[in-house]
Amino acid sequence: MTWKTAVAIAAGIGFALPAMAQDREFRIGLITPPVHVWNQEVAALNETLAERSDGRFSLSVYPSGQLGNEATMLQQLQTGALDMAWLTTAELTFRVPDMAALHAPFLVDNIEDAARVFRSDVAREILDSLPRATGTVGLCYAMIGMRQMVMRSPIDSAADLNGQRIRITPAPAISRFFEMFGAAPAPMALPAIYDALANAQIDGLDMDYESIINFRYYEHAPHLLETNHHMFGMVALVSGRVWAGLSEEDRTLIEESMQMHCDRTIDRFVDEEADKLATLREAPGIQITEGVGPEFFGDIVERWDAEWGEQTPFVARLRELVETF
Ligand code: BEZ
Repeated sequence: MTWKTAVAIAAGIGFALPAMAQDREFRIGLITPPVHVWNQEVAALNETLAERSDGRFSLSVYPSGQLGNEATMLQQLQTGALDMAWLTTAELTFRVPDMAALHAPFLVDNIEDAARVFRSDVAREILDSLPRATGTVGLCYAMIGMRQMVMRSPIDSAADLNGQRIRITPAPAISRFFEMFGAAPAPMALPAIYDALANAQIDGLDMDYESIINFRYYEHAPHLLETNHHMFGMVALVSGRVWAGLSEEDRTLIEESMQMHCDRTIDRFVDEEADKLATLREAPGIQITEGVGPEFFGDIVERWDAEWGEQTPFVARLRELVETF
């Protein structure tokens, strides 16, 4: 019995009898559009699963939040209405407070170290809470690039961000970071951002290079601050009900296939981050302020850690981990 089976059974998820080998089309949901690296890797995962299962397994992919926002997809996973999803660590913080530590401001200096954190045993330990807290099994982490700020107006100091309505991915830990320097965080799902920006409902956003390029947010928010202020993770999830109904062999097949594409996703983000910034330097009308570090935000790291370190020991554990890099 693997640790994930044991955890699932302990969480009361293990009730279905393992299915005999049979054809299976898994429904998988994502918030990102077909052009996104995640979706490309999910398409590749489909091929890997088909190949390794001799054609028994395939995926039917629901991109761009077609099944609803991430909170809705998480509920669907819990009931078994959805089989799999690639969801942000931000969404999971609502049910798994330890996950908030992965959004600690300025935890790492660069994307290479972010990859090391997501591949660490400490981060993997956080996945152990998922069956009980969400009714899902977290097979692996992947990531998006580091987060930057994309603003409508020029920003020369943290004071210029005061009162600015900045779109964030819904998550209390991210929200508090923005509140701590006086901004007004506006939680909003990814597909809703472009229109909100075009209609001037928000003054800027918290985003990674991949989506800034894909969605051309700079058309309405041309002032990009290269802050790298937090890492942004993804967890590849399988519904606990679905997992419990699979044979041990099929679980291993799915876990190994998923891990391969989580790893490829991480590698691609690490390898392509610098090129994406170079692409953005060429974008029409964009103004990039490079090298904005934690000092720009004063004592924000200490204040955030004081508050969130009380909610989860993983803040201190992850800070200790990155000291060893
Ligand atoms: C976001 O909410 O900002 C986001 C979610 C998934 C992928 C990229 C961005």
